[in-house]
Amino acid sequence: MEIRFRDSTADRIKSDLVVIPVRDKQLDDPALRALDRHLKGQLRARMSKGDFAGAEGSVLLYPTAGMLPAPYLLLIGIGAGETTSDDTWRNAGARARKEACSIGAGEFAVFLAAEKNFDSAVGAIVEGAALAGYQFNKYRSNGKSVAALKSLTFFRSGLKKTSALQTSVDIALTTAPGVFLARDLVNEPPSVATARFLGAQAQRVCQGRGLTVEVWNKKKIEAMKLAGLLAVNRGSVEEPRFIRIRYRPAGKARKRVALIGKGITFDSGGLSLKPSKSMETMKLDMAGGAAVIATMSCLPQLGVDIEVTGYVPTTDNLPGQNAQKPGDVIRYMNGKTIEVLNTDAEGRLILADALALAAQQKPDYMINLATLTGACMTALGTQVGGLFSNHQPLADSLLRSGREAGEKLWQLPLVKEYKELIKSSVADMKNIGGAHGGAITAALILQEFVGDTPWAHLDIAGPAFAESDNLLGPKGGTGFGVRTLIKFLLSL
Ligand code: BES
Ligand code: MN
Ligand code: ZN
Repeated sequence: MEIRFRDSTADRIKSDLVVIPVRDKQLDDPALRALDRHLKGQLRARMSKGDFAGAEGSVLLYPTAGMLPAPYLLLIGIGAGETTSDDTWRNAGARARKEACSIGAGEFAVFLAAEKNFDSAVGAIVEGAALAGYQFNKYRSNGKSVAALKSLTFFRSGLKKTSALQTSVDIALTTAPGVFLARDLVNEPPSVATARFLGAQAQRVCQGRGLTVEVWNKKKIEAMKLAGLLAVNRGSVEEPRFIRIRYRPAGKARKRVALIGKGITFDSGGLSLKPSKSMETMKLDMAGGAAVIATMSCLPQLGVDIEVTGYVPTTDNLPGQNAQKPGDVIRYMNGKTIEVLNTDAEGRLILADALALAAQQKPDYMINLATLTGACMTALGTQVGGLFSNHQPLADSLLRSGREAGEKLWQLPLVKEYKELIKSSVADMKNIGGAHGGAITAALILQEFVGDTPWAHLDIAGPAFAESDNLLGPKGGTGFGVRTLIKFLLSL
């Protein structure tokens, strides 16, 4: 997608579709008035007839019938308020793309008045337009494809391209393919997307200056004593993998960050088998790992000056004949032991190894992403990820990054009194808590493996997978986390 900037006005610009953002009930806006003069007042008549007043999310497509160089105008409501959030701009970009597609336009031009957040607004619109074009048609014989968007133009009179503007666009154009990669990895059927496949994909996509990938096989995993990963893998005929991706900036690194992603390629529950309905979407259970691999793949292009290491423990969770059994005890490298009372609480078992390993490097921050608990989905629904942290500044910074990136996060507490619920009669802890607060007890288990490293855990069980088509993408993997992590790393 080519991004252009033009010093022009809506009555002069040549484009298949001219997009005008309209603030709620601000129909007297000078730009809109000037435009309506060219249309002999018909636009205004059409707006009142169609009940278009600029409410956020509303659109009005208007054929100009030869009265303007552009055959179509699209008014997009951006809601009330002096400043418009990046979230609103992102959605507006996605809406514009969908409308452009519906009239067969391969490009469109957006009028954007001068405003305080101009650069980030442009980036958000570009990102929204790009994200809305995602499809996964690999397994369809008659793929209904979204038309390609060749170019997107921004215009207003006096508009000049600046380097800050270009940077904002470049970040958006790097982020979108990263999100698509994470979506692709999740959408791939689970018998294709095995641990070995994920390792090979990490090797394929993590290339470029400063990136190195290691994929450990079972022998190396045994040598490294990753006991949780081996325990979960016992019920499978597929070998596990442990993926470690390193990014080192060209200059001196200002900070060191570890990203850890849950990579369960299919979660049947193991011997504590899930009912079949609950298994339907369980290929999503490597979404945290996919987000980590995808984020790492973007780092050379973003040129962040932070050292980042990605860790993805990966296996499927199946009830094969050698499967781990309720009552088994796992001894971890940091000396701690976990009694496995439910083999379906497997994510924490494989993350424990990875967190302990990452903590040995003493990074400045450690962030893990995991489709960890149905309980978190019960608490926050399908659109919001749960955030737990032992370090409030880190939590605040991730909450801000999520807000700016358009990925909703809500902080949940690490209630230390609930440690009572994970006490075991034979080991240091057991892998399940009581009847309530399941997202919290899961997070408390993870916390046992991070030491005093500033750490945050994102439970993305809800938002990792869209249950239906939406503005920014179709049903399936959403790539949740990639946008937040990129914002976060760029903000350090
Ligand atoms: N992968 C699931 C969590 C999940 C559920 C993700 C629904 C996305 C949608 C996880 O491994 C799991 O099975 N968790 C159990 C934990 C329980 C056994 C303590 C759960 O949430 O039911
Ligand atoms: Mn499970
Ligand atoms: Zn799981």
